Amino acid sequence: MNKPFTIELNTKGDSRGLLAYIDDSTDFPFKVERVYWLWEVPEQQVRGGHAHKTSQQVIICTNGEIRVSLESLDGVFKEYILDTPGVGLYIPPLWWGRMIFSGGATMIGLASDPYDEADYIRSREDFI
Ligand code: TYD
Repeated sequence: MNKPFTIELNTKGDSRGLLAYIDDSTDFPFKVERVYWLWEVPEQQVRGGHAHKTSQQVIICTNGEIRVSLESLDGVFKEYILDTPGVGLYIPPLWWGRMIFSGGATMIGLASDPYDEADYIRSREDFI
């Protein structure tokens, strides 16, 4: 899987609100080894600005709106607007990702590997 795609998460809702979950019944692209989340991100803040060598990620916007731009090594660009906690975005390795947060937006990231700074490509020159 080396293309990004969105994943519709299992969602249950009633008059008390909505709930989404990921479990064995979810068609999920990898085994989750790590979960991280972001909050109190300033309006229009750019996060990301890197690619991963091997780690795969699924990101979920849990509040507000996050604009995501992804660029592959061979120059394919994809843009997504994440504005519902019911959808995840799969980001393969070797795609350069940038996320722009709306005010108050929050995000959960699910990763296929433990955190390892050596897995990051943070330099555009190295990526290109
Ligand atoms: P980074 O991945 O650069 O954030 P973003 O892509 O959202 O802009 O991570 C920011 C800092 O947090 C950096 O020092 C690495 C550290 N970090 C961890 O220690 N563990 C983790 O699981 C993650 C995602 C980041």
